[in-house]
Amino acid sequence: MSGLFSALLRPALFCLDAETAHGVALKALKCGLVPVPMPKPDHRLAVHVAGIAFPNPLGVAAGFDKNAEVADALMSIGFGFSEVGTLTPKPQQGNPRPRVFRLVDDRAIINRLGFNNEGHDGAFKHLSARRGRAGIVGINIGANKDSADRAQDYVSGIARFYDLANYFTVNISSPNTPGLRDLQGRANLAELLRRVMNERNQQTDRSGKTIPVFLKIAPDLVESDLDDVSAEVLANSVEGVIVSNTTLGRRGLKSQNASESGGLSGAPLFERSTVVLAKMRQRLGKHIALIGVGGVNSAATMITKIEAGADLVQLYTGFVFEGPTLPSKIIGGLSNHLDKNNISKLSDLRDTTVATWASKMLV
Ligand code: FNR
Repeated sequence: MSGLFSALLRPALFCLDAETAHGVALKALKCGLVPVPMPKPDHRLAVHVAGIAFPNPLGVAAGFDKNAEVADALMSIGFGFSEVGTLTPKPQQGNPRPRVFRLVDDRAIINRLGFNNEGHDGAFKHLSARRGRAGIVGINIGANKDSADRAQDYVSGIARFYDLANYFTVNISSPNTPGLRDLQGRANLAELLRRVMNERNQQTDRSGKTIPVFLKIAPDLVESDLDDVSAEVLANSVEGVIVSNTTLGRRGLKSQNASESGGLSGAPLFERSTVVLAKMRQRLGKHIALIGVGGVNSAATMITKIEAGADLVQLYTGFVFEGPTLPSKIIGGLSNHLDKNNISKLSDLRDTTVATWASKMLV
């Protein structure tokens, strides 16, 4: 399948506009047309994070499965968990097309989708249909572009999906909804997290179960922003932080599409998002969950994220370029790494290079 993907399927998909190709990939997954053998289960890869038992720490990042249609199909090809969304209360069209661009020479994507999604109702229908199935599904929630009270949109997401989520992601870092990233500022963040965690705690009292909340941040934050975000995460007892969303930075790109506006993901994001990850691990201490995202496309890049502080890792752009065998290849690569280096479990690698990564300047 791996050879078939690079020889035939990728060239065919890359002839299509990026968003159309994504639609084809979703349909193929839905119809079970992605015949990739599951990687061999390896108990050394299993991790317990924020009270959840993950079979392996590799997940699909938000944005791939916006409307929660293919979470099970993705887990059947090797991902240990799947994050769906971003979901907004009301459906949204997003920005005009074209709005997703491949930067092939940079192994990167620029997108300015703008939270196109079917809204809470659409995803609720899809997620209800898989109720009771095994598999860890995180629900990434956001705010409508025209919302008068954005914090309320997040609160509504927690309430609506509480019985269907394994964890929630509060996404305040998409660059494609004007003003959304302002929620990362100290005063706004304090108010948002207070209201979100208050709703979560009320739902805990109602249901008797605590669904963890993760905060997804931008890689473009500077040191003082990281101080503020960490202080609010700790003050509000948020369980984890996802580092990171796409960047507005455009350093060192060579592809034709590099000047498109939107968020950049993929290989060029790896360095910056890993530095921010390590800086957050230093600020948050050992007990907060950290999810490393940005430019992961191999077992080696995943291991680097774990060594720099990640408990869990997610990817999106690597999947577009490497194809459906990537999760299985990465999982196999992780097992080989443990064999070769006589390591008894993957999580032993966590934090081993935090100091080195965190010492790099954010430029
Ligand atoms: C994204 N990403 C994203 N993130 C999020 O929290 N909500 C979303 O709706 C989306 N949508 C989205 C669409 C597209 C086309 C891309 C490429 C990315 C960001 C994604 O989850 C991830 O944080 C970044 O892409 C960095 O990871 P990769 O792609 O470098 O592995």
